[in-house]
Amino acid sequence: MANGDTPERILLVGFMASGKSSVGRELASRLGWAFEDFDTVIEARAGKSVSEIFTEDGEAEFRRLESGVAEELLVRTEVVLASGGGWPAQPGSWNMVTGHTMSVWLQVSPAEAVRRASQEGPLRPLLEGGDVTNRATALLLVREASYRRARYALDSEQYGPLELAGEVVKLMTESR
Ligand code: S3P
Repeated sequence: MANGDTPERILLVGFMASGKSSVGRELASRLGWAFEDFDTVIEARAGKSVSEIFTEDGEAEFRRLESGVAEELLVRTEVVLASGGGWPAQPGSWNMVTGHTMSVWLQVSPAEAVRRASQEGPLRPLLEGGDVTNRATALLLVREASYRRARYALDSEQYGPLELAGEVVKLMTESR
């Protein structure tokens, strides 16, 4: 997105449990825009949960569905999008992000992501099993460069969804 342009959509990226959905919902309601969560759309299309897709069909099939959903959502306007934590690191993902998309990386540490994810209920498929914090640390390391491609980065460790949504609105206004 070039300076002076009003974004047509906002794309939130970041690790699992970095707050993409809660910030996205708050932001959409402030802007009067729609909110779409990649995982929710995938689940509705597949008729099963993300966990079931991973177990029954495998990660490759999940990524195929995810890529199709991303391609559709990334051309919609006046929409806040919460991508899945792994989507930005898939080959070709960022090619779908056009110049009118304001992308924001919500930064969180692996330990905090694991703490939040454990509180939210059943663990995400990629965090199941032992040594969760170590695995989250390794995954984040691999993915960090892809998150860094977002135009803005905000600290989602210290700030909550309301503050972060406010910050994004501020950035939108400032970049105009
Ligand atoms: C994944 C993150 C999840 C979901 C799936 C895979 C990942 O989304 O898409 O479990 O690869 O990091 P959230 O980031 O919303 O948890």
